[in-house]
Amino acid sequence: MEQTKNIQTGEKPGILIAFEGIDGSGKSTQIGMLKERMRQKGICCYTTMEPTDAPIGSLIHQIMTGRVKADPRVIAALFAADRLDHLLNEVDGMVYKINKGINVITDRYYFSSYAYHSGDVDMDWVIKANEQSRNILKPAVHIFIDIDPDEAMERISKNRYHKELFEKKSRLIKVRENYLAAFEKLKKEEKVIIVDGSRDPQVIGDEIWEKIKNEFGGAEWQQ
Ligand code: ADP
Ligand code: TYD
Repeated sequence: MEQTKNIQTGEKPGILIAFEGIDGSGKSTQIGMLKERMRQKGICCYTTMEPTDAPIGSLIHQIMTGRVKADPRVIAALFAADRLDHLLNEVDGMVYKINKGINVITDRYYFSSYAYHSGDVDMDWVIKANEQSRNILKPAVHIFIDIDPDEAMERISKNRYHKELFEKKSRLIKVRENYLAAFEKLKKEEKVIIVDGSRDPQVIGDEIWEKIKNEFGGAEWQQ
């Protein structure tokens, strides 16, 4: 993808890569591997995640851990607000980084909202609520790591304590369906790569690298 120069700074802007998937799909693992691969090639890269650890993200964390109560519609709106802050805050916002020429990898972006909040609220409402973010910064590519919710549950239960595993599984099934519906709905507007996340992490990492380096990377990615 040809990148135009940033008019204000004269620097070539970085690209944004968003990782998506149900909980336990292997996003953090793959982001770590991609970051390391980029580091070895001397490609500048910043990794970040949603919900953030900034004030709105911290409130979301308190809701998710049950310390604060909130209606699902409020939660959906908070995620949209956290995302705007993630983009626009002047200290380490994604727009600031991209404009400085830094490539950014985010663990979750607006497709997470489409997938996790549709059901509580209409998907079109969620898309509309996130329209600002989408207009401000659309990723070069969304990488969806697709795994079976059963396998995700197995991985999650090995590592974390979940008292309502059954409830969690039915939610993951629905979230995966919502992801696929959202990709279909926006297939003309968004670049999405779906990878099979049930394989060995190294094999998945190699596939992701091969798929993104030629299409999205500059000359330094090819070395
Ligand atoms: P996420 O960030 O999507 O929640 P993680 O990368 O934290 O997922 O992975 C969840 C768990 O599954 C971790 O214990 C991780 O080591 C393991 N894991 C990640 N990728 C794979 C894989 N391809 N095969 C088997 N286990 C994996
Ligand atoms: P986290 O512990 O970071 O999970 P994971 O490692 O799977 O990413 O928690 C993020 C949770 O927040 C996850 O369950 C998905 C949810 N979420 C939403 O419900 N809406 C959103 O817009 C985003 C970004 C995340």
